Amino acid sequence: MLIEQMTNREYHQSMLLFSGALRELNTKFEIINEEFAIRLKSNPIEHIKSRLKTPRSIAKKLVKKGLEPTLENALEYIDDIAGIRIICSFTEDIYRIATVIQAQNYIKVLKIKDYILNPKANGYRSYHMIVEVPVFLSGKTEMTRVEIQIRTIAMDFWASLEHKIRYKFESEVPQNINEDLLECANIISSLDEKMLSLNNEIERYKL
Ligand code: GTP
Ligand code: MG
Repeated sequence: MLIEQMTNREYHQSMLLFSGALRELNTKFEIINEEFAIRLKSNPIEHIKSRLKTPRSIAKKLVKKGLEPTLENALEYIDDIAGIRIICSFTEDIYRIATVIQAQNYIKVLKIKDYILNPKANGYRSYHMIVEVPVFLSGKTEMTRVEIQIRTIAMDFWASLEHKIRYKFESEVPQNINEDLLECANIISSLDEKMLSLNNEIERYKL
């Protein structure tokens, strides 16, 4: 079925599993965050954002990959139809959350990309996971793929500006802007380090 030709109803029907998976994960992450808050008096998660990819952007991505923009291809080849972004205050929290996610037995981790340990050439930093989670329907349980991105508030700030710039210039970004972006990414990285060590220092003063 060609995505562009799908009716609203057909699209919503095929997205049911993905929106279900997002809601399930959202709740689970909120509970884990609350548990940390009670137990350690600190919230590793600042906030959570989630989104479903629009039909247009799914079709665009398939065409870019040289594939026919069909629902079947989307289900097979697009990992981020459902996307959830976990925003943390400190870099340490990112790894804390990632470890917790990996330890959950209902979550199957398919792929990990650590762009914090290995930042992209443009300066992009984030921790990415492709996971599968069960979504329970009336008659069956379906494993459903979700992309999880975990980053600090500062990394998120950078990524949204970079995305906006790339969108505006349609990938022909002037070199000086790219250089400035990379400089900002490095400033943000050292800011994140400083904020973390400041926080650790404050923790030592806690009574
Ligand atoms: P796609 O980039 O989604 O085709 O898949 P990939 O296999 O390259 O995965 P990757 O983990 O590199 O990127 C997945 C997602 O992370 C993207 O769809 C973006 O949301 C985000 N992302 C990756 N690189 C960048 C970047 O340079 N800038 C920004 N703003 N976001 C990025
Ligand atoms: Mg990419």
